[in-house]
Amino acid sequence: MKPIQVGLLGIGTVGSGTFNVLQRNQEEIRRRAGRGIEIAMVADLDTTRAKQVVGDAAQVVGDARAIIANPDIDVVVELIGGYGIAKALVLEAIAAGKHVVTANKALLAVHGSEIFKAAADKGVIVAYEAAVAGGIPIIKALREGLTANQIQWVAGIINGTTNFILSEMRDKGLDFDVVLKEAQRLGYAEADPTFDIEGVDAAHKATLMSAIAFGIPVQFDKAYVEGITKLAGADIKYAEQLGYRIKLLGITKRTDKGIELRVHPSLVPSKRLIANVEGAMNAVVVNGDAVGTTLYYGKGAGSEPTASAVIADLVDIARLHGADPAHSVPPLAFQSSTLGAAGKELPVLPMAEVVTSYYLRIRVADEAGVLAKITTLLANAGISIDAVLQREADEVGGEGSTQTDLIILTHDTREGDMDKALAEIQGLPTVLAPITRIRKEELN
Ligand code: HSE
Repeated sequence: MKPIQVGLLGIGTVGSGTFNVLQRNQEEIRRRAGRGIEIAMVADLDTTRAKQVVGDAAQVVGDARAIIANPDIDVVVELIGGYGIAKALVLEAIAAGKHVVTANKALLAVHGSEIFKAAADKGVIVAYEAAVAGGIPIIKALREGLTANQIQWVAGIINGTTNFILSEMRDKGLDFDVVLKEAQRLGYAEADPTFDIEGVDAAHKATLMSAIAFGIPVQFDKAYVEGITKLAGADIKYAEQLGYRIKLLGITKRTDKGIELRVHPSLVPSKRLIANVEGAMNAVVVNGDAVGTTLYYGKGAGSEPTASAVIADLVDIARLHGADPAHSVPPLAFQSSTLGAAGKELPVLPMAEVVTSYYLRIRVADEAGVLAKITTLLANAGISIDAVLQREADEVGGEGSTQTDLIILTHDTREGDMDKALAEIQGLPTVLAPITRIRKEELN
């Protein structure tokens, strides 16, 4: 059979990895796919660099639309990123009857419904394994490997940059700003790291996993997003003393009321495997009613790890190309006709309805009755305390200090009740600084 013809839009880090891995492993990939996979065209604004990567093996063009206009191209691989031109090109490729492979989590998390509908109408595949957790085949695991299960929850370290920063803060006892600069110097963090450190990149990925896990449309606008920029080194240290590590988790969970979809720093018991995922690595824990808890670990970014996921999608398409599109794997795991119905039954919950436990750090005047007042306000809100740690005043504010930190771990409570209690506690004259609140996930 004729090799499937691929056009790459963008040949930066992931594009060149895709080209190199396809070249290196072409014989095995052909045996697995049942036919060859050939990158026939590459579009990049920097045509000189693109030619250096592909040599004479593919035609290099400066205009991506030349690929979409070529009737010989079967699959377009979008590696441009962002919502702008990438969205237009993906929709144009679909309209031209081409299958699409993309690593663009932002595009799918925000515009996925429109893109998947356009693909279904046209009978083409949109595949996006590389969009979530890079080289870890988590989309395939959720969509196919775990298809027998009612998924209960998914929790993942799905942003390597922030995990690297948190690991360094813990290892070296440094504050966020210092480690961010180091991460940028080492090339882990982008020059503009906003999407990573503010949790947006993780929320894009969590949004996609939520849709696949629960059969709901992609709803990035309903995700709660909190990054790591406000985390203090002291909180990482106190968490450790209490037996926890702080990780930026993307969480989506099925509850009786609806679906939780949230990204925020979380205390995770140190004994959990996921708490020990360090540096830029990614890991995702999935809990299904039949299988129990499963863990997926690996590189969430990088040239060849991400290429591994892109090529897996190309192999799937090579196997399915020409088959009845209604019988291919649905992009969001559930048949598209059932997504709306499930969405009505299972709304994405507002954060006030989320139930979780908390770590609180409260800077107080070190005097009689302060702890009692705080615990009374928590008790009045129905919030049960799990553990309390009080630092020596000297340790917190230096010799002769009259301030101290109270660290409180709570049991599960509604976020709305916690918000109310914290507002009251914050109003006490003996509370001397904004309260730090970090959510806690036992993941058991
Ligand atoms: N910037 C991401 C990360 C990789 O740090 O994990 C691409 O999603």
